[in-house]
Parts: sequence; C-alpha cells; structure tokens
Amino acid sequence: MFNIKSIFPKPDKLYLISSVRLRGIVEIPGDKSISQRALIIGLISNGVTKIENILVSEDVHNTLRAIILLGGNVKIKKRILEISGSGLGNIISPSKPIYMGNSGTGTRLLIGLVAGSSATVTFYGDESLSKRPMQRIIDPLEKMGAKFVYNDDSTLPLTVIGARKKGITLPIEYRLPIVSAQVKSALILASLTARGTSKIIEKNKSRKNTEEMLARCGVNIKTKINKDRSNLIQIDGVSYIQSKDVKVPGDPSTAAFLAVAALITKNSKIVLKNIYYDSFRLKVFSILKKMGAGITINNDSNRETCSILAESSNLKNFVIGSSQSYSLIDEYPILAVAASCGRGTMIMKGLRELKFKESDRLVAIYKGLKACGVQTSIIGDTLTIEGKKNIEGGSIIEAKNDHRIAMAFNILSLVTKRPIKVIGNDSIRTSFPLFFDCLHSLGANIIKDD
Ligand code: S3P
Repeated sequence: MFNIKSIFPKPDKLYLISSVRLRGIVEIPGDKSISQRALIIGLISNGVTKIENILVSEDVHNTLRAIILLGGNVKIKKRILEISGSGLGNIISPSKPIYMGNSGTGTRLLIGLVAGSSATVTFYGDESLSKRPMQRIIDPLEKMGAKFVYNDDSTLPLTVIGARKKGITLPIEYRLPIVSAQVKSALILASLTARGTSKIIEKNKSRKNTEEMLARCGVNIKTKINKDRSNLIQIDGVSYIQSKDVKVPGDPSTAAFLAVAALITKNSKIVLKNIYYDSFRLKVFSILKKMGAGITINNDSNRETCSILAESSNLKNFVIGSSQSYSLIDEYPILAVAASCGRGTMIMKGLRELKFKESDRLVAIYKGLKACGVQTSIIGDTLTIEGKKNIEGGSIIEAKNDHRIAMAFNILSLVTKRPIKVIGNDSIRTSFPLFFDCLHSLGANIIKDD
C-alpha cells in the first residue's frame, strides 16, 4: 500500500519506561472498520471509489490484497486509493486461498460477501485468526443458501461456496444470538444479492458503518429500534451499487489508547485530531469522563470529525454495566489500564465476547494486571479491578498476536515502578503501526532491550 516511515520499524523488544509530561498534537490514523468496509464496498460497486486517508496497517493491507484477488482493480494516486469495482455479483473465484492475517473484520465481512455471490473462496489466517469462531456466521449464511467446507472446530481455514453458484441467495429473517457488527455486516453483505427483503435483528446496537456506507451508495437499507429496544435492520436485495468516495476519519479506538496515556501520566496535555465523531464509537470517552478524566471533545466544522484534548487526571472507578459493553468492546484493555490507576474498585460487567477477540482478552487483561501487581478477579464475565497508586510492574506480558493487549500494557508501563516488557509488539502493526512513533513524539521514554 503506501509507505509509512517509522523510526521504530522493529517494535519487538521495545518498551516504555516511566514518563511524565506527554505533550503535543497527534493526527489520528484512519478508522480500521471504515477502511476495510470502504475496500469491500468499493469492490462490489459500479464505478471508481476513491478512498482518502485509508488506515495503513496490516489488517487493512490483507483486506486490500483479498479484494484484488476477488477482482478489484486498485490504483494509488497521490495518497488516494482508487478501486474500480467489479460490480455486485461479479466476484471471481481466486485460484489460490486468500490469506487474511489477523483480521477478523476483513474475514467475516468477506465471507458474507462471497456467500451471496457465485464464487468459491478459501480463507485462512494467522494463529490467532485460526482460533476465532466462525459458526456464528456459518449458521445464518447457510440458511441463505451458501455452503461451507470447514473443520470440526468451525475455524479457519474455511471454504465458502456462494449461494448463487447453483441457485439463488435467499433473503433471511434472523435474530442475532450475539451482538456483533462483524456478523451483522456479513449478513447485510450477503443480503445484497438476495431476492427480496432481509431482516436482521440485534439485541443491542453495534457499530453501524456497513449500514451507513451502503445507504450512501443508494442501497435501500433502513434501521428501526423495536419496542423491546432491539435494533431491526431491513435491507432490499439490489442488482447495482453506485460507487461513492470515502474520506476515512481517524479511529476513536486508537485515540483512546493515547488519551489514557496522557490521563495517567503527570503534567500531560495532548490533542488528538481528526477523530470519527460518532457517539457509539466515542462511548469510551464518556466513560473516561465519568471517571473524572480531563477530556474535552470539540466537534470540527464538518460535524463528521472531532478533536479530543486529554490532560493528566485523578481517575475514580465505578461499575460499568453490561448494557454498555457492546460499545466498549475494543476499549476494555485500555479502560482496564485506566482503572488500575484509578481510585477505588472498577467493576466491568458483561465481558463474555472479550473471550473471542484476537486473544482471550478477558484472561489476558486479568493475568497481565495481576502480573503487574494490580489486584483483580474474574467471576463469570465480570472483571473487577482494584485501582492503586505506584503499580509495581516489572513483568513480562505475552500479547499473543493481540494488538490491543500489547498497546494497553505498553501504556501501563508509563506509570509502573519497573517497566513492563511486552512480547508481541509486532502485533501492533495490524491497527496502529505508528504507535511507538506517536508516543515518542509526545515525549514518552522508549528503550530497546538487547
Ligand atoms: C468490528 C466489530 C467488533 C470489533 C472489531 C471491529 C467491525 O467486533 O471488536 O474490532 O469493524 O465490525 P464484533 O462485531 O465481533 O464484536
């Protein structure tokens, strides 16, 4: 894709030592969810999709390679990525399996897309992706007419035979058993080729990028909150999608990691710019504010992005109920770091889905904090953290192909008595390759272990 210059091209064996006074302004890199969807929707659109400020990261790169193998034509002109779409229904069957690396979003969305096509595609991934559950998309997509070849564990590698190979895509009426934007989006993408209207119901809202981006391309997709507070998504099958350019805003989840770095270190004041202005994705900042964080959000004049000022703060802990968990799913690792530095007890409820991320994040957070000297416990899917001053640290954390665990514990190392060494910093390239560069530019102390 684009070349990005990092002064830390090999993040392995880097670690952060106790730092104060993080200062500066950071332009937050593009949102991962929107970047991947822009590529996927670009592939099935008619016409050229120009994507500005796409996230340059390994997950996005793997999705880009996949869409080229599926028939997309890609050019890069002056830092704008242009896709000439093949149109809906013209996805080609690649001659070899597609490698998706670590990307759960890219994989699940593309499986949904292929399920509604006439192509046959095999997907495989890295060690972490190969453990992630796929039954959650296989069951509903089979109901729509797709066929699957997969192993006993329902994990990758997996082959999808599109419903239109020997028949038609059937519309579906489906209540999602779990709240997941990836599963919802897979079903929406498959529904595009269905003969009729599909109805997908989610118990609670999840991120809505797929719905919004398809609506901008002229697809008849509507959402409605039912009386029982569930969210209904209704989508008509179409034969044509009009390409629409995408300007990718900065990723709020990425911003949350840097914001917490400023909140927990002394005399810090940083400004994070160009962040996607979306109440669902910004939920983490309302939680931090409730913790007493010095966070100020300023809307940009376009009303689509905002900047966030984060200043050193005395944080306090409280109970985060399970109904909030859906909008914080990617931010719990960094919220757990904030809670470790806060006053009192933090109780986080409803964390079951954390078990199915790039690693079992519930256990990774628990074990990591314990190893750093923070008192913590898990009962069922509730995580309890006792905040404290002067966290010991000095531990070695196995991030196991999980970028968010790696970033969270690197940031905790900014305030621990002894540094935390993370094994698996390489994984950060999947979402935020310039993580160490940004912290360095803000004044964090970075050391290389030999
Ligand atoms: C994503 C959805 C979330 C999130 C992931 C990105 C998306 O996963 O954790 O990082 O872009 O749709 P689930 O929908 O599986 O919870």
